[in-house]
Amino acid sequence: MELSAALYDYLDFKPATGSFLTDVLAGLSAQPKALPPKYFYDTRGSELFEAICELPEYYPTRTELAMLNAAAPEMAARIGSRSAIVEYGSGSATKTPTLIHAVQPVAYVAIDISGDQLRSAVTQLAHQFPRVRMFAVCADYTRSVPLPQLDAADVQRRVVYFPGSTIGNFTVPESHAFLVNARQVAGREGAMLVGVDLKKDARILNAAYDDAAGVTAAFNLNLLSRINRELGADFDLDHYEHRAHYDEHAGRIEMHLVSRRDQEVRIDGRTFNFSAGETIHTENSYKYSIEEFQQLARSAGFNAEHYWVDPHALFSIHYLTVAE
Ligand code: AVI
Repeated sequence: MELSAALYDYLDFKPATGSFLTDVLAGLSAQPKALPPKYFYDTRGSELFEAICELPEYYPTRTELAMLNAAAPEMAARIGSRSAIVEYGSGSATKTPTLIHAVQPVAYVAIDISGDQLRSAVTQLAHQFPRVRMFAVCADYTRSVPLPQLDAADVQRRVVYFPGSTIGNFTVPESHAFLVNARQVAGREGAMLVGVDLKKDARILNAAYDDAAGVTAAFNLNLLSRINRELGADFDLDHYEHRAHYDEHAGRIEMHLVSRRDQEVRIDGRTFNFSAGETIHTENSYKYSIEEFQQLARSAGFNAEHYWVDPHALFSIHYLTVAE
């Protein structure tokens, strides 16, 4: 553990590069080919994601932020005093100041896989909220994460915060497992605040994941650039294209990289063949109705205590409490 001049505690559990190579080789050997979306977020990928959040077509970020601004006092009243907020996938933590300002927790724990972004976000928050004890945990939260000891005497309620509808990037069984783990992290008297994108007209969804400026396409293709950069592969980016499509039946956006031609790619001494039109499935983004998500939360041991929806019924935020 490294101590950052008492501004915050930094805990480094970043996975070794070896796991990136192992996951890429396994994903490209599978049929159909697939890569885990968590690898989008290197420094360039995180920048591109920030740019996505500003796009006119990508409604989730600004909708959730507006909802948070409006509902933060009510959220704070539900959470009560002497809480600790544990945020999974904190990224640039743009929504966090609003929540911390309203809730005034005694402690805040940010968990993210991108170390650079984590440090800069938590440094800023620590300056903004000097009275809140801050921790930055660099880790892959899709695996089990050791969390810092929070003084139980100081903390009355632990609240797991998972905004951004990042839960939609898990399959439904993965979401269930994540919620079960979140319930354990929250513990007795604990709670969870989770942002969940709602089911809606396919045209709105397709535009949000295939924007006119091509930022989402660049974000998707950056995964291949990252594999070239970090693993010495020889993907030719001109020979792949971005595809995003809402599958109404499955209730999810699927993102793919489509091979424009028959081609071969070399990674770490292995050769992978692609036929024209073959795809690498890079991301799912599940959308839930209120009832579907509440049912999932209940099946993981939470009470679906309250939810907020924006006036256009685009996005939801659920307040869940740990069931006895
Ligand atoms: C991070 N996550 C919630 C985003 C989403 O909407 O599924 C990732 C994303 N992919 C393409 N655009 C945004």
